[in-house]
Amino acid sequence: MAKYINMEHETTFERLRELVDDPDRLLFHMMPPVGWLNDPNGLCYFKDTYHVFFQYAPSSPLGGPKIWGHYASKDLLHWDFCGEAIVPSVEFDSGAILSGSTLVEGGKMYSYYTGLAFDPALPKEERMKTSQTSTVCAVSEDSYHYAEKYRITHQSEYPSYYTRHIRDPKVWKMDGKYYMLLGSRNVDDIGGMLFYSGDDPLHLTLAKEITTKEPFGFMWECPDWFLIDGTQILCMSPQGVARGEYSFQNTYAAGYFVLIGDIREDFDFGAFREWDYGFDFYAPQTFEDGNGRRILIGWASVSDAQKEYANPSVEKGWQHALTVPREVTFRDGICYQYPVEELKALQSGEAIPVANGQILLSERCFDLELSSLAGREFTIMIGDGVKLAFADGVFSLSMTSEAGQGRTCRKIRAREIRELKVLADTTLLEIFVNHGESVFTSRYYVKEQTVDVDIKDGNETVFGNIWMIA
Ligand code: FRU
Repeated sequence: MAKYINMEHETTFERLRELVDDPDRLLFHMMPPVGWLNDPNGLCYFKDTYHVFFQYAPSSPLGGPKIWGHYASKDLLHWDFCGEAIVPSVEFDSGAILSGSTLVEGGKMYSYYTGLAFDPALPKEERMKTSQTSTVCAVSEDSYHYAEKYRITHQSEYPSYYTRHIRDPKVWKMDGKYYMLLGSRNVDDIGGMLFYSGDDPLHLTLAKEITTKEPFGFMWECPDWFLIDGTQILCMSPQGVARGEYSFQNTYAAGYFVLIGDIREDFDFGAFREWDYGFDFYAPQTFEDGNGRRILIGWASVSDAQKEYANPSVEKGWQHALTVPREVTFRDGICYQYPVEELKALQSGEAIPVANGQILLSERCFDLELSSLAGREFTIMIGDGVKLAFADGVFSLSMTSEAGQGRTCRKIRAREIRELKVLADTTLLEIFVNHGESVFTSRYYVKEQTVDVDIKDGNETVFGNIWMIA
């Protein structure tokens, strides 16, 4: 039985699960039993349990009509796959259950999502053109059964200069009122958000439209909002921002604005910062846990990246995963992300001191932490195909064509690298630079179980530790 990701409770896909026989399955990241996974949805802490829902198309690793799949955990480390959570059951969500969020209130979970309605008899192309979207709220008292579904908005109510691309509700409560953001694309192909408010969680009305002064992409997907140390953070996944050499390197991006002011009033947008610079990161969501921590989970992939990436797991019947839960903290005007402290328990056995030279790994999964790197350049090789390097003010993640399955290099400018943490699952790397000031998430495929450390002028120095994860 799997130690961290337990699929034993699931019976619906029992037969299909037998088909999965893949040594590249992940050890401690949430992934679908079979089929396709994308965005994390409805993240919440409810009745002493963490709940992570996700966009799920069980019937094919290439996707299909989405439902909400469900993982639950008591400790953010061991996860039980609980199967299907929200599935089509009424006319206005008969086609698919798209992304959204959960509000916990009065012993109930209010899960908001975009319901898609279309005539299943139509060919796929026609379905999309004629589909209708609604914002739906499904209410549950136990997190497993959704007795009631309420329609909150319908696409016919949106201002006429928007396209059908309005989706992904984020709902929260503040000072006794309820607020909702929907990601949007208008007819001029400018991304933005619709902002709703109301006195009860099932009746919300459009209060204003939000977008930047200068257009910033054609669509803003998966909005999120949170308050951290008195500052409001507005997050979203913009599509159509021009690719740069050191930023917006993927087909689509994900990041946040630090708001200057209050979203409920007039405010200004601070600078936009990307959450992650790796090849595989999109559509993150955050929630507050029982201890007031802000926790972020992202989709460890990006949509529409097929031209650049041949994901080997497709042949095995599954595709994609979520990142580990990361605690978000706010310092010097930016958000830092770092694996929640519960994940320290992944480290098995003794810490192995790391100095220059080669380390032979006894496991495929490991946790590497290097500190006191300030002022030094370095190269770290993971297996035979992944290189992390810092030189001339640039930190880069480079992969051979085999290790990257078509992807080659992602990089950022950095004044110095003080610390580096590499959390390596079987085929997924999460790299935290300067304690999560910048993060790189990427699938990787190497054969050798080695780490080679070469820190400039660093002979005789111990820079940190590595732990195996078993
Ligand atoms: C983001 C997204 C959302 C949508 C969902 C559909 O990846 O496109 O906007 O709700 O995926 O699965």
